[in-house]
Amino acid sequence: MAIKIGRFKGDWDELVELVDLAFAAPWNEAQLESERRVWEPERSIAATDEQQLVGHTGAFSLRMTVPGAQIPVAGVTLVAVRPTHRRRGILRDLMRAQLTEIHEGGTEPIAALTASEPVIYGRFGYGLASDHQEIVIPKASRELRPVAGVDDVRIRYVDVRESLAACAALRNRLAADRPGMFHHDERWQGYVSADNVTTSPSSASALRCVLAERDGEVTGFAHYRTKRADKGFVQVYRVHAADLASHAALWRYLLEPDLLSETRCGQLPSDDPLLELLLDPRAPAPITRDGLWVRPVDVGRALAARTYARDIDVVLAVTDDFLPWNAGRWQLAGGPDGATCEPTSRSADLTIDARELGAVYLGRPSLARLGAAGLVEEHTSGALAAASEAFSARQLPWLDTGF
Ligand SMILES: CC(C)(COP(=O)(O)OP(=O)(O)OC[C@H]1O[C@@H](n2cnc3c(N)ncnc32)[C@H](O)[C@@H]1OP(=O)(O)O)[C@@H](O)C(=O)NCCC(=O)NCCS
Repeated sequence: MAIKIGRFKGDWDELVELVDLAFAAPWNEAQLESERRVWEPERSIAATDEQQLVGHTGAFSLRMTVPGAQIPVAGVTLVAVRPTHRRRGILRDLMRAQLTEIHEGGTEPIAALTASEPVIYGRFGYGLASDHQEIVIPKASRELRPVAGVDDVRIRYVDVRESLAACAALRNRLAADRPGMFHHDERWQGYVSADNVTTSPSSASALRCVLAERDGEVTGFAHYRTKRADKGFVQVYRVHAADLASHAALWRYLLEPDLLSETRCGQLPSDDPLLELLLDPRAPAPITRDGLWVRPVDVGRALAARTYARDIDVVLAVTDDFLPWNAGRWQLAGGPDGATCEPTSRSADLTIDARELGAVYLGRPSLARLGAAGLVEEHTSGALAAASEAFSARQLPWLDTGF
């Protein structure tokens, strides 16, 4: 009997059974609860074999920062196919149904996700749009360059829940400037403060919070855990600060753990000042990890929804095997104050696939770099360099909240 793709009508427990099987690692109770709270059942799409749930994809309704704006974005999540039903095209059918639905909804010009395996989503037109650094800093290499004002910042230990509103307000202010970050409403504030982090090392402490304060005003915070062991460590989940002195003060605190040997962070922004402040640049031994994968669902609306670092007027011949409505020639015209992107019959300056447009959408990597790799074709001399500058962003995109 054929597999059917349609609205998921089951309940949370049925979905959890599938996810447990698919990801080969059961969620603990705390994690189940916080995942359930952010789940948007009305956005779930199911693949069923007779009455059995054999595949699923879902989406979060996010407000994500892109260069110059915050826009509605479909945050694709809970993608799973039952192990007994793999490699028969179920994921492909789910992806097509989901992207078609988002397109028809007309409000979310891009979809974004984080991938369990990086090779899966390119074939569906998702491009790698952000990265971050995984670092480990031994206590012996913790010394930072001097930063003006750092001693005026007070670091105060606080309860995670009690400090939630102040931390969320600060983070949401910073998120409005950094592409790739999305606004945390109450559901997401609960999610990031719940004691459920999948990467939590076993028998580590509960999630801890310290605030950075100056003259009684909250200027930053950090969430972390500690683990005592032969080689005990501080595991840092997030550091957000409104100014450099507060940032340095928080890191100075996190890098000086008594009784522990090192400080780890799995998701440091690739342009984080910490990497410049460490006296020993080899100390963190950063490993680059993939972050957000972005998919233009509607090329015209997506390119018109962000701003550009300099004036741009370019015709893009877009290829898109998976979502045919994106394919064709588009004239993108605009600059720092906004842009339009409309179908055109003019001849193309550049040829680019939707996947590469997704990759550069948040401002990283550069179009020039993709061009050097043969992934963008230039037909008009100078068009690639000009477009490359226009697509760049002041801050590198960063996903601070995995979903
Ligand atoms: C990843 C997963 C959803 C794929 O489902 P599926 O139904 O087997 O995938 P499909 O049969 O539709 O495959 C579509 C294409 O993707 C490829 N593909 C699927 N999973 C892949 C993987 N893990 N690695 C590399 N390629 C993969 C297939 O080979 C196929 O390629 P083709 O178009 O060239 O023929 C499924 O294996 C799964 O549930 N894995 C565990 C959970 C997981 O990783 N979910 C993703 C979370 S981000």
